[in-house]
Parts: sequence; C-alpha cells; structure tokens
Amino acid sequence: MKYVLGVDLGTSAVKVLLVNQQGDVVQETSKSYPLIQEKSGYSEQNPEEWVEKTTEALAEIVSNFNGSVEDIEGISFSGQMHGLVLLDENNEVLRNAILWNDTRTTKQCQDIYELVGQEKLLEITKNPALEGFTLPKILWVKENEPEVFAKASVFLLPKDYLRYRITGKLHSEYSDAAGTLLLNVAEKSWSEEVCNLVGVPAKLCPPLVESFDCVGTLTSDYAGATGLSESTKVFAGGADNACGAVGSGILSEGKTLASIGTSGVILSYETQNDLDFEGKVHYFNHSQENAYYTMGVTLAAGYSLSWFKDVFASGESFESFVDGIDTVPVGSNGLMFTPYLVGERTPHADSVIRASFIGADASHTRKDFVRAVIEGITFSLNESIEIFRENGKKIDTIISIGGGAKNKTWLQIQADLFNAEIIKLKSEQGPGMGAAILAGFGAGWYSTLQECADKFTEPAEKFVPIAENVEKYQKLFGIYKQIYKQTKELNQQLVEFRL
Ligand code: XUL
Repeated sequence: MKYVLGVDLGTSAVKVLLVNQQGDVVQETSKSYPLIQEKSGYSEQNPEEWVEKTTEALAEIVSNFNGSVEDIEGISFSGQMHGLVLLDENNEVLRNAILWNDTRTTKQCQDIYELVGQEKLLEITKNPALEGFTLPKILWVKENEPEVFAKASVFLLPKDYLRYRITGKLHSEYSDAAGTLLLNVAEKSWSEEVCNLVGVPAKLCPPLVESFDCVGTLTSDYAGATGLSESTKVFAGGADNACGAVGSGILSEGKTLASIGTSGVILSYETQNDLDFEGKVHYFNHSQENAYYTMGVTLAAGYSLSWFKDVFASGESFESFVDGIDTVPVGSNGLMFTPYLVGERTPHADSVIRASFIGADASHTRKDFVRAVIEGITFSLNESIEIFRENGKKIDTIISIGGGAKNKTWLQIQADLFNAEIIKLKSEQGPGMGAAILAGFGAGWYSTLQECADKFTEPAEKFVPIAENVEKYQKLFGIYKQIYKQTKELNQQLVEFRL
C-alpha cells in the first residue's frame, strides 16, 4: 500500500494526515502554537514554530508507521492564507510573520486605492484592498520598518515558507498568490503593473507553480529530522480554503462549502474568471487548474468559540464545554452574539468593529452563552450566503467541514439557519485532506483531481432544515443584522481605550 501526507498549516495548529491510496486516514496528529498579539489588531507568529511543530508531527507519524517509509510517496500542504513571511538574501526570516487576521494596515489599504485606483485593483486582482491581504502588510513593513524592508529579497506565504524549509526551494502557487493582491488572477501571473504602482519590487515575488506540481524532494537534513525518505515527492499545495474545497469535493459548478476553522468561510466553485461581485466577496484561483472560487469570510468563527472557552472555561474539554447546547432553544433565550473579536471582512469590511453580546438576562446560564456564540458565528456566515443568493446562486446543499462539522447540534443549526441541507463528510479535515488529494493526484495515482477527490471523500450524514426553526432563525437574522449598524459608532468611540 502507498501513502501520502497532507499537512494543514493552520492558525492555531498544524494538523498532519497520513492517507492511503484508498483515501483512508490511517494516522493523524496535531501540534499547536500560539498567536503573538502585542496590540489590539496585531496578530503574528514565529515561522520557526511552524517548522518545529510540523517536524515533530511528521516524526511522530513516521515513528508510529509500520510500513516502509519509501511507501510514503508524497507530501503536500494546505496553509493559512495571506500571512507575510519576509526573507533576506540568505533566505533567513527577517521578522515574525504578520497573519491574515492582523488588521493594522487600514492606512496601507487606503494608500493602495490611491496608488492603483479601486477599479483597476478590482480588474487585475479581482479583490478589494482588505487589511488581511498580503500587499498591505508589505507596505506596512516598508513604511514602519524600512530597515527590514531594505533587506528583503523575497516574500513567501506561510505554507510556502514551510515547504521551502523542507525542500530548500522557493515557490508560490496560484491559489495562495491570489490572496496577496499582487496576482493578476485571470492571467495567473504576478502583476508588474500593481508592483510598480505601489512601489514593491517585482523581484520580491517568488516563482509560481500549480498546486499539484512537484517542486522537488525532501532535503537530506529534513529527511533525517523526520525519518521520511529523501525520495518523498513534495507537491506545492494550496491556500487552506482552496484545499478545503478540494478536500470536500468542491470541484464543479453549483457546489458550496461552509468551513468553520479559526476563520469561517462560505465558498462557491466558479469556472469563470470574469464574474462581477463588485468585490463584495473574495475571488481567488482554485487549486484545480484554471478554476476559481468566490468566498465570504467571517474572521473570528471557531476563534470566537475558542476565545470564549479559553477566557471562561479554560482547561475544560471542548465536549463538556458545548454539552447541553441542544437543550437551549433556537435564539438562545433572547441572547445574541456578533463574532467581531478581531474586526470583520464579509459583509462589513471593518477593522474597528468588535464583538457584542446583546440581551444578556439574569436567567441566562453558560449554556445560553455558548449557544449564542455558535449561533452568532452561523448568523455571520449566513450574511455571506445571503450575498450569494442575492447574486442569483441557488444554494440548497452545503458541505460543512472543520470544527463546525464536529458537533451535531451545530450542524442542525447550520441547516436551520442557512435553510439548506447540510452534508457532513466522513472526515471533516477538509484542508488536510485536500493537501493529501493534491499529493495523491500529483503522484499519478489518479488521472484527474476530481477522480482522486471522489475516492478520498465520502458523505457520512445529512442534516435537513426543520421548517419551524427556519422561520424563527429568519426572524432572528433580521435582528442580528441590525447589531452591526447599531454598534459601529460605539466601537469607534472605544478605540482609544484599546490595548
Ligand atoms: C481567507 C482567510 C482565512 C485564512 C484562514 O481569506 O483569510 O480563511 O485563510 O487560514
């Protein structure tokens, strides 16, 4: 039997799956690392931690593996998007990585609009200037740490840096490059025009490949550190959302994904590169060749729940923390939560807004709060679904992956609130599975990515909307949507009191 490894370099942890040729996950392990949050709006990580923890995870998988390591034929990656890793001329990391959920770059986003023009930016990159994307972070470093910027010889995205450390080769690939605001998304090339207009040397951009391209094999040092074979083929991999789509079989028109990890996304497969959503949703290259996807993003989805647990129930298991939420009625007994812990992207691109609980009552217990957080995350994702539906998309079935697919009550909440059938897959690890599929296809096991995904993904359970709950959630959604407008101004006044 042959195997591949799917590495999902996430925001809270790296998760590694060992998958056999039948698509069975035969081993999985996860190693976590912290966020560095020096100030409100800042979010960084030390790239060395990604490498250390991935190496530990791979070594653990190899030490528990009974077969011959030569049978582990390939490895590929899914990565948290947009994060900026800057390297000097010796390929040494110049500063901590600035992550996708860091929102310090509002000024740089405005500068981009002034330098490039809003319309031209949208025409070339298909996306608006948002704080989380990579280009504003490059411009922030240029402006605030000129001595660091002067030493930069290349920038990489998080999983591309990890792969560099494994192979010694520098690359980016289209699905992650699309989230930089430097890629001409339709032409699949770095935009020299945008680089010139914003004053970023085009030579900082690494060579581009496809997600399933083989970029080399393991260095002998890395093979030594993990116990893997030096002949293991390394495939480029993709952005976590593109890999989530591959790992859930979102590979043809009409398919929709709800992925709830640290962030939460609603993603729709697209064949065309010339649709116009006016920048209301993200529009990126897929990991499947010449395909695309559109997506709405809730910045703090699973993160809202893990934040709530860490602050109010640290040390408790996730299972006991969510225990009993099925006994709380739809609407959490009048308690509502907006998940704006680190600002928001869709539909309100706003780095200043912060979260609220509305309607707290002396009768509420912790269960009400936990359910309200879960419902708030789901309401936020429903705002993305609403944009898609308003633009004519028919969304009646959604594949749900990530933390949101681990709990049956949450899956039913998704069905009722999204008013769509929710499919849970056998493995909810979409991005890691997507990375494994890219490696399996890249290794030549199957003739198309679709064929490999069909083999590796399997629907396990279906959740159908309950009419009575759908009606209640529609009413509650109308109330939820008002909270943003009513708390925006208040949050602006609170800025001066933040860390
Ligand atoms: C997408 C985004 C997040 C990260 C999470 O634009 O910023 O979903 O990819 O890892």
